[in-house]
Amino acid sequence: MSEPPTVYVTREIPGVGLDRLRDRYEVVVREETLPPGRSEIEAAVADHDAEGLLCLLTDEIDAGVLDASSDLAVVSTYSVGYDHVDLEAAHERGIAVGHTPGVLTETTADFAWALLMMCARRTVEAHDHVEADAWETWEPTLLRGADVHDATLGIVGLGDIGTATARRGAGFGMDILYTSRSRKPDREAELEAVGLDATYVDLDELLAASDFVSLHVPLTDETDGLIGAAEFERMRDDAVLVNTARGEVVDTEALDEALEADRIARAGLDVTDPEPLPADHRLLRHAPEKLVVTPHIGSSSVETRGRMAEMAAANLEAGIEGEPLPNSALRDAGLE
Ligand code: DGY
Repeated sequence: MSEPPTVYVTREIPGVGLDRLRDRYEVVVREETLPPGRSEIEAAVADHDAEGLLCLLTDEIDAGVLDASSDLAVVSTYSVGYDHVDLEAAHERGIAVGHTPGVLTETTADFAWALLMMCARRTVEAHDHVEADAWETWEPTLLRGADVHDATLGIVGLGDIGTATARRGAGFGMDILYTSRSRKPDREAELEAVGLDATYVDLDELLAASDFVSLHVPLTDETDGLIGAAEFERMRDDAVLVNTARGEVVDTEALDEALEADRIARAGLDVTDPEPLPADHRLLRHAPEKLVVTPHIGSSSVETRGRMAEMAAANLEAGIEGEPLPNSALRDAGLE
């Protein structure tokens, strides 16, 4: 009887995803909690003659890794983002690439709102205030924040998560501005159905008019450093910036300067550059008054992380069996 194909998994993932793979394949799971370097992945894929590689967004999957096993048929990333995978190289080699879109849309939009509310209503500072035993009485001006209701929400990138984030603005009576590579009539109709009139504007106009700017673009050459010094200059000085997309979309040094000079009021970041952000990073001197940072947990609900694992396993299985992937990153990136 022939050996079952080997699948290399760079870190333990939750839920039934791995059990499902174990029923059919030889599954090798790396046990460390910190990410492997690219050479470790390359060596492991080669040593195990892996046919499938299940990776995370912290793993760099380049041509060297893709060439490490001549049997490698599929790379399945446990993430919607695939900026860490060299898609062109995979496509050239006929290696399928899977990702997990859709399933984390609403959970990530919830989290963009968590950051927005934390920044607007200064909840981290407020909690610290109580914990520091500074709550002496009700005070007329204590921790005044910004109103969210009736404010203008600027969405940069009206894809699935951007639209889901905008949709939540309906409950707050917000005005929605959005910018995207092109106008999105379907998305506008989706938002109109919940009573939102979403207006397509260019980035400059959006930055100048929005109380809250929420970023929802994938990381590409075009969006790397999209929000830099010039963009902060255009923003309102009472504006809040929320980033649940990728850290590199915001120029960290420019953000640091913008917060220092009160060019914007606050920023809420779930993603950073560098990531992870070390505790002694300069940027953190603005926290918590002007800055809230969370450790890239936008999609981290029990249910969503479990469903992501199932999707990643399903993509992997399809790739090994030579079937079309339920969620192909190559297809979604326009490469197939
Ligand atoms: C992704 O999947 O790309 C998110 O950033 C984390 O869930």
